[in-house]
Amino acid sequence: MKEQLLKIKEDALKELGGVKTLTELNDLRVKYLGKAGALTAILRGMREVAPEDRPIIGALVNEVRESLENAIKERGESLETEALNARLASESVDITEPSRGQARGALHPVTRVLDKLISSCVDMGFSVVQGPEVETDYYNFEAMNIPKNHPARDMQDSFYITDSILLRTHTSPMQARELEVRKPPFKIVVPGATYRNDSDSTHSPVFHQMEGLVVDEHVSMADLKIMLNELMKRVFGEGTKTRFRPAFFPFTEPSIELDVTCPTCHGEGCRICKGTGWLELLGAGVVNPKVLEMSGVDSRKYKGFAFGIGIERLAMVLNGVPDLRTLFKNDIRFLNQMR
Ligand code: PHE
Repeated sequence: MKEQLLKIKEDALKELGGVKTLTELNDLRVKYLGKAGALTAILRGMREVAPEDRPIIGALVNEVRESLENAIKERGESLETEALNARLASESVDITEPSRGQARGALHPVTRVLDKLISSCVDMGFSVVQGPEVETDYYNFEAMNIPKNHPARDMQDSFYITDSILLRTHTSPMQARELEVRKPPFKIVVPGATYRNDSDSTHSPVFHQMEGLVVDEHVSMADLKIMLNELMKRVFGEGTKTRFRPAFFPFTEPSIELDVTCPTCHGEGCRICKGTGWLELLGAGVVNPKVLEMSGVDSRKYKGFAFGIGIERLAMVLNGVPDLRTLFKNDIRFLNQMR
């Protein structure tokens, strides 16, 4: 029996030398130390061993088991280390390898035009404020002197959320909000998104405007003209000419619309300006005294002028974009041309 035991130990250790994986190692452990293993079989045969020999054989069995267990454990640990090292080697990153390069982003044409307009106005002493895109009927219409039955309130044009709340259809409601809280004199511009239920090559349901409002004791149409001429020169370049046409807005009186010479053909007439040489760019006027009064500003003491510029239109003519909606499709090929 003693020989048998030593043979088991010898065989097991020899086999252990050839074990290459953790699964093989586990198989080996079961084969020798498991419930149906070789060593357990010996223990079962103890009954036939003479009683006086039992302690000696028992001690030997324990010794063999212990040394096998230790050897298996050691082998297991070294197999694990090997596996870990192999994984680390295969997953290593070569930090000296050149990178694939990073694609360079650029500002959206609408953002660029807005930035240019805003910085030009800031240079002229304007403060920049922003307002809510979800607006009340009061500020969007009522406070801007747009009466209840005015066509601009038509459900076809406005996105209503409830009877009295809608997506602002222009940035003009910020005139009323600022008149309520600011102490004149002040000069502000309000850039932001606006919404109308309209979609064709010159309209998108979401578009952008920049509102301007100047309030002081002596403000006139002449100041408005000087200021807008200056702004247009800054945006379109020195040689740009402007043209003022009479217009109507409920919140300004008198009202004008401003055209500039087409930046593409410089007034010659082309596809962009539909052959006229002029581009219609913005609405403006002297603030209607009713608007001042409704927001608590004394119209005998203070006057104001206001303007509202459509940003997409500007981005289109400055970049030669024929369909406004392409500005919002985010086609990477289009955006790459707009850098
Ligand atoms: N709110 C007008 C529009 O959306 C533009 C405008 C602003 C006109 C301020 C006059 C004064 O068309």
